[in-house]
Amino acid sequence: MLYIIDTANIEKIKHCIEYYPIAGVTTNPTIISKEHTDFIDLIRKIEDVIGNDRMFHIQLTGDTAEQMMEEAKALRNVIGDNLYVKIPVGEEGLKATMKLHKEGFHITETAIFTQQQALMAAMAGADFVAPYVNRLDNIVSDGVNVVGEIASMFQRYGLKTKVLAASFKTAEQVHKISMVGGHAVTVNPEILESLIYHPLTMYAIDDFKADWESVYGKKTIMDMVKEKEQ
Ligand code: G3P
Repeated sequence: MLYIIDTANIEKIKHCIEYYPIAGVTTNPTIISKEHTDFIDLIRKIEDVIGNDRMFHIQLTGDTAEQMMEEAKALRNVIGDNLYVKIPVGEEGLKATMKLHKEGFHITETAIFTQQQALMAAMAGADFVAPYVNRLDNIVSDGVNVVGEIASMFQRYGLKTKVLAASFKTAEQVHKISMVGGHAVTVNPEILESLIYHPLTMYAIDDFKADWESVYGKKTIMDMVKEKEQ
């Protein structure tokens, strides 16, 4: 499973990559606009923070394939080889995907709501497809099932394209993606933190500390090692 963070907030990205095994960052125009700052300065800062070993997914905003290709080339000059251009699925998007794939770009086809959109994007050359789980659940569809069927189709056809499930509101949705063969999830920092939180874990850690202190007081393992060395 690849854990990716769905934010453009620098402080949150710094925190997440320090404490979690994060494979990259995803953004979209909504996420970028929340930061109310210069777009190019912002993506340069994010790239500095995450380094070029992590993926950086940035969505194109052009309406035509030609505009998208121009944007993709300009962004690759700014970001480098870890850039994944996010392209909304559609005729212009597929045209751009086929051409950019031939030119060696990494591509994430986004705004995916159906299995056939995902299959078409994979055949066009997308590296990732991003189905929107919670938005599917919101329209009485079943986001997890859609992801599971896409993952099965890719396996059945021997496609290398990976499923990057997106749009989550609960830790349970994320967990279910890992049970149906999703390859990657992109989640906001709050959902990421909720994936490791459990009150019984907190109680267990508090109990360990109390039992230790009842015998050794505030002495740490290192205090004891140093005492023996003297
Ligand atoms: O990466 C796509 C994702 O940001 C959409 O999430 O919460 O707006 O449905 P949401």
